Amino acid sequence: MKTPKELKVKPIKNGTVIDHISANNALKVLKILELPSQETGVTLAMNVESSQMGSKDIVKIEGRELASREVDEIALIAPHATINIIRNYEIVEKGKVNLLDEIKNIICCSNPNCITNTDEPVKTRFIVLNNEPLILRCYYCERMMDQSDVDTQFQLF
Ligand SMILES: Nc1ncnc2c1ncn2[C@@H]1O[C@H](COP(=O)(O)OP(=O)(O)OP(=O)(O)O)[C@@H](O)[C@H]1O
Ligand SMILES: [Mg+2]
Ligand SMILES: [Zn+2]
Repeated sequence: MKTPKELKVKPIKNGTVIDHISANNALKVLKILELPSQETGVTLAMNVESSQMGSKDIVKIEGRELASREVDEIALIAPHATINIIRNYEIVEKGKVNLLDEIKNIICCSNPNCITNTDEPVKTRFIVLNNEPLILRCYYCERMMDQSDVDTQFQLF
């Protein structure tokens, strides 16, 4: 076990650490996971130095073990995220996130004329054409979106 001073976040006894989140995306991760940032036991570290990524964000969730499958959708904005399950201060499991074939209801379509951007109650739906680099196609209007479109269309509030 590492000594606490080596950890970029305060150690947790049991729970989940989501590491290697692309810098500044921790709040988007919470939104995708539908975790309120004021929830007890949720801690964020943003713009932490990383040898692999330059800088990164970390989300720590005390008292809850999230299965990789539950968090797959965060690959949309944090493709290199690692999921560390902590029991009694030790990492007992490490997983990666994988984008699903379809992304529903997380981001808006960049086409202002898309049916999902009208008053019709149509939820957004994108087909994942490629993971890296990210390429999505709107199921309704066929608009193609890349990572920067996704980042722009992600509505945090
Ligand atoms: N008990 C704990 N409480 C909180 N965070 C922890 C705990 N144990 C490990 N971590 C954090 O979990 C992440 C992964 O830890 P690990 O020791 O596996 O790092 P690593 O060796 O750099 O692994 P990786 O190759 O995944 O980067 C780090 O961000 C570390 O700070
Ligand atoms: Mg590391
Ligand atoms: Zn569309």
